[in-house]
Amino acid sequence: MSKIDFTEAPLGVHSIDHFTLVVPDLAEEVKFLTAFGLGVETRADRLLLRTVGSNHVWGQILPGEKKKLAYVSMACYEGELEGIREQVAAAGGAFEAHHPAGSGDGFWFRDPDGILFQVKVGAKTQPDQKTAMPDLSIPSNVRGAPARSKAPLARPTRMSHMALFTSNVTRSLDFHIRALGVRLADRSGEIIAFTYGRHGSDHHLLAFLSGGGPGLHHSSWDVPSVEDCGRANTQLRAAGYDRHWGPGRHVLGSNYFNYVKDKFGQWWEASAHIDYIEKDADWTIANFADEDSLYLWGPDMPEEFPVNVEL
Ligand SMILES: [Fe+2]
Repeated sequence: MSKIDFTEAPLGVHSIDHFTLVVPDLAEEVKFLTAFGLGVETRADRLLLRTVGSNHVWGQILPGEKKKLAYVSMACYEGELEGIREQVAAAGGAFEAHHPAGSGDGFWFRDPDGILFQVKVGAKTQPDQKTAMPDLSIPSNVRGAPARSKAPLARPTRMSHMALFTSNVTRSLDFHIRALGVRLADRSGEIIAFTYGRHGSDHHLLAFLSGGGPGLHHSSWDVPSVEDCGRANTQLRAAGYDRHWGPGRHVLGSNYFNYVKDKFGQWWEASAHIDYIEKDADWTIANFADEDSLYLWGPDMPEEFPVNVEL
């Protein structure tokens, strides 16, 4: 890796508010996302995605010709909106006036790969501290596992992060550090880089992955434990979705994972117990070789996993 001094921005977003994705068949996506454990509301022209116990809309799915990321909406504190707008301008972001969500909030721009972003004032959806993993140990004289037919569905409680394809990891990283004020957590050379939110966030909020151009690699949804990652795999296979990577455990971020691909080539991750970086924490950035950073344990990564199907 070439040594690059990234310029630290004075302000920064705290969360992803939501994203919008286009797919060819909304009815099919309702079936998939319900099996994935999300709450899906069908509107006349779109789907709204929620998680159990929350009214926040994390995602919108619109109908279109092929699977494609429409935009990512980032949230910031009210006192930082104008300053972040100035950071985006100084970093060379291409501002746009149109509002695909029908929302005039905040401002819109494209990053160097042409990915459309919104920045607006919004609630912090990232946690303020690391969530403990439930204790999975079972005492003596107690039956630990339920019958398979009685097992509860794995259901995400919130969105954790998004991984975006880019034609140039270092360029995307440099831009978003200066524009959105995210910070580098860890990277694996020019393959992938993970950024976090300075106000306290998961180890990754936005990840940038080499993919020859723009696109959405995956959105990641937090589940309580490694047990839920396992059950997510089983419940999705039972629903007819058999293209997975996982269950496994990552090195960078340390999270337990199960990725599943929908019928349109989009990966969705169930993630548990990801590393958390507190506000103002002294985090040491690592740069791992890719063979040493991808996963600690789990099945081999499928060949189709890193392919950008949006190109
Ligand atoms: Fe992920």
